[in-house]
Amino acid sequence: MNIVVLAAGMGKRMNSDLPKVMHRLGGKPLLAHVLDCARSLMPNGIFIVYGHGGEQVPEAFAAADLKWAKQDPQLGTGHAVMQAAPMLDDSVPTLVLYGDVPLVSHETLMRLQAKAGSARLALLTVEVDDPSGYGRIVREGERIVRIVEHKDADDATRKIREINTGILVAPTGALKRWLGALSNDNAQREYYLTDIIAAAVADGVAVVSSRPLAEWETRGVNSKVQLAELERVLQRNQARQLMEAGVTLADPARLDIRGSLVCGRDVEIDINCVFEGNVRLGDGVRIGANCVLRNAQIGAGTELLPFTHVDGASVGAQARIGPYARLRPGTELGDHTHVGNFVEMKNAKVAAQSKANHLAYIGDAVIGQRVNIGAGTITCNYDGVNKHQTVIEDDAFIGSDTQLVAPVRVGRGATLGAGTTLTRDAPADQLTVSRAKQLSITSWKRPVKKTPS
Ligand code: UD1
Ligand code: MG
Repeated sequence: MNIVVLAAGMGKRMNSDLPKVMHRLGGKPLLAHVLDCARSLMPNGIFIVYGHGGEQVPEAFAAADLKWAKQDPQLGTGHAVMQAAPMLDDSVPTLVLYGDVPLVSHETLMRLQAKAGSARLALLTVEVDDPSGYGRIVREGERIVRIVEHKDADDATRKIREINTGILVAPTGALKRWLGALSNDNAQREYYLTDIIAAAVADGVAVVSSRPLAEWETRGVNSKVQLAELERVLQRNQARQLMEAGVTLADPARLDIRGSLVCGRDVEIDINCVFEGNVRLGDGVRIGANCVLRNAQIGAGTELLPFTHVDGASVGAQARIGPYARLRPGTELGDHTHVGNFVEMKNAKVAAQSKANHLAYIGDAVIGQRVNIGAGTITCNYDGVNKHQTVIEDDAFIGSDTQLVAPVRVGRGATLGAGTTLTRDAPADQLTVSRAKQLSITSWKRPVKKTPS
C-alpha cells in the first residue's frame, strides 16, 4: 500500500516555535514514532505532507524511503492528501496516518488494512465518552453513510459517540477521484478528507470500520498536556513489557525509558531511573534509585548504587559503581571493578579488579588490573590546549591526593606516596613520592593575644 502521513498542521495549542511533529515522546519525535510504525507495514511508499514550520521537518527526517509533499497554505485534511495524490500508486490502497498520532500500532493498522482489502474504504473509529471536537460517524443501521465534523453537526449528530480517528484506508484510484470533487462549503471553509465517505457511499463503494486494539493508540497530541498524558501511556506500556519479561521494577510509574532498554534475567531497577538511547543490562544487574543511564552497557551481576550517571560507557560483570559515580563517554570498566562516590571517569579503560573508591577524576587513562586509586587522585590530562594520556600498569597503588600530570606512566607494581605530583614516569615496583619534607620546629611558640594596657 501507499502510506500518506499528514504533518502540515501548525499545532497552535502547543504554544511552541517547534513544528508539532518534532516534539518528543519517549525521547523520540512524534513523527518518528509514526514513521517507525509505517515502515513496519512494508509499504510501497511513504509520503509525508508537510507545511507549517517550512523545511525543518523534511530536513530533520530526511531518508531515502520518504517522499515529501508541501502543503502551503493548509486548507484542510482533504487538501493535504491532494498534495500527495499525484505520487500515489493506483494499483494498491492508500493508508492515511496523522503525524501527531504517535502510538498507533502495527497490529491495529494490519487489521484495518485487512478490513479494507483492495476495494473497500475502511475507517478506524472509536467510541468515546466526550466526542466534542471530533468528526462523528453517521450510520444508517449498521451502514456508515458519512462523517460530519463537530462544527457542522446538529445537536442530534453531536450526540453520536462513535468518532473518526482520522486514520483510514482507501482504494487509491477512487480516492483521487473523490479528492478531486471535494468542496470547502462547510463551517471551517476547509477541504475535508472526511467528505470522501459520502462520495464512496454514492459510488457504491463499501465503507467499513475497525477498532484499535487499545483506546490510547488513536489519541493525538494537540497540547503539552496531551503530550504529557501520552508520555505516561508510553512509559506505562514499556514498564509493563519489562515486567512481563521478568524485570523487577520498584515502581513502574517511576521509570522513564527514552530509547531502548534491553535487560537480561533477574534485573532489578529501583525508583526514578532514566534510560536514554540504547542501554543493555546483563543478567542479575541491580540499578539503585535515581540513576541515569544513556547509551550504556552493564555486565552481569553488576550493581549501580543510587545517583550513578553513566553516559556512553560500559561496565563489566560483578562490578560495583556508585553511589554518586559519573562515567562519561569512552569509559570501559572491566569485571569486578569498584568505582565509588564522587569519582568521575572519562575515556578511561580500567581492567578487572581495579578500584577508585572515593573522590577522583580519571580522564584519558589506561589502567591495568588490580590497581588501587586512592581518594583525591586526579589525572591532569589537559594542559589547556591538548589532552594527554595517563597509563597505570597492573598492581600499581596510587596514594591519596596524587596528581598524575599526563603524559605519564606508572609502572607495574609501583607505589605512589600520598600527595605525589607525578610529572615523570614512576618505575615499576618502587615507591615514588614527591612531597616537601615534613619538619617540626621545637622552639616554636603559638602567638598569644595581647592584653590592652
Ligand atoms: C480531523 C478530522 C476529524 C477527526 C479528527 C481526529 C477532518 C476534516 N476531520 O479533525 O473527523 O475526528 O481529525 O483527530 O479530517 N493537517 C494537515 N493539513 C491541513 C490540516 C490538517 O496536514 O491542512 C494535518 C494535521 O497536522 C493533523 C491532521 O491533519 O496531523 C488532522 O488535522 P486537525 O486539524 O487536527 O483535524 P481536526 O479538525 O482535529
Ligand atoms: Mg486534531
